[in-house]
Amino acid sequence: MPVIRGHDVQEAAHWLAQGRLVAFPTETVYGLGANARDEAAIAAVYQAKGRPGDHPVIVHVTGVDAALAWTTTLNEQAERLMAHFWPGPLTLILPRRADVSLRITGGQETVAVRCPAHPMAQQLLQAFEQIYGPGAGVIAPSANRFGQVSPTHADHVYDEFADLPHPSIYLLDGAAAQVGIESTIVDVSAPDTGVRILRPGHIQASDIERVLGEPVQQRAPTAAAQTAPTHPPIPRVSGSLKAHYAPRTPLYLFERDDLPTLLKENNNQSVAIVSCGELNEHSDNDTKHTAQTSQPAARQLIHYEAMPAEPNPYASQLYATLRRLDRRGFDALWFERPPQDLAWAGVNDRLSRAAAAFS
Ligand code: TXA
Ligand code: MG
Repeated sequence: MPVIRGHDVQEAAHWLAQGRLVAFPTETVYGLGANARDEAAIAAVYQAKGRPGDHPVIVHVTGVDAALAWTTTLNEQAERLMAHFWPGPLTLILPRRADVSLRITGGQETVAVRCPAHPMAQQLLQAFEQIYGPGAGVIAPSANRFGQVSPTHADHVYDEFADLPHPSIYLLDGAAAQVGIESTIVDVSAPDTGVRILRPGHIQASDIERVLGEPVQQRAPTAAAQTAPTHPPIPRVSGSLKAHYAPRTPLYLFERDDLPTLLKENNNQSVAIVSCGELNEHSDNDTKHTAQTSQPAARQLIHYEAMPAEPNPYASQLYATLRRLDRRGFDALWFERPPQDLAWAGVNDRLSRAAAAFS
């Protein structure tokens, strides 16, 4: 049995101490955890995910004191952000201590550290710290195969790894992850050159600026955001490795005004149309629709569904929606492009990357 499901946090902590893998809920997404001081266990996480070795992972700790086992110094910015946002969905990039494995950092001189707020994650980290002693930490990338959509439910994790031949994983079965997209990553390792947001998330640039009292740099909304197509061509087969957070069904973004044209152009496709907020006429129903063309039997099955019009509930549902729609065998998923303002940065980042896989 490659995935064993349970609720026993003590048992899970012992798995970690034995060098085995534990999947656990956090407030953002489920993570696939291993003892961050155990090279073989770290390697097993990379192997289970199929993740390239040069992609660094995040060390999860119980709090600020525990973070000091991973970084050389805490500068003022780091201290402020930790005091304000920890425990919570914020990852800090810090200078690594010399004894932190380069396998964790992807060969870099910085290390990513996060203190999750989810009670089960906290209990697990504390139980593991009790067993391991000072210096404990748990690496935990999102508990999905590399390039796939991150898991927000225990069932998603089970689906990802159920066919894994080796090693086995203990899956701590918790409720759905509430935030729904991965933590905001902030680089405070070189404050002289400024504080930078490397991955947008639930905690926004404006929240961070307010706490620091200084402007932060946002990495440009990724090359993916600019290349994501708004007018879907005839759907192509996926398979490109630049796919990230991507479903297997081709995903495209559209502007609401273009919807009538898109529907007209796509005669024979079975598609899911996912609006941002309600569409006026259609929502949450399947419509059998015979296209008005002279060609016989040009039929399309269109499924309409509405996502929330607000960024936090939207983020909370996004990955579960992608996974659910991905299983239904549509030719394509069309997502309405959400507003381009900063409150939507996290959602827009994930959607554009998913769409970029099919551009
Ligand atoms: O919400 C989250 O952060 C979840 C939960 C499980 O905690 N974890 C997560 O891990 O999203 P993962 O491995 O899927 O994403 C980690 C991200 C990657 O984009 C990686 O490039 C970045 O963190 N990262 C890790 N160490 C870094 C470093 N030293 N410098 C820059 N980026 C780093
Ligand atoms: Mg991930």
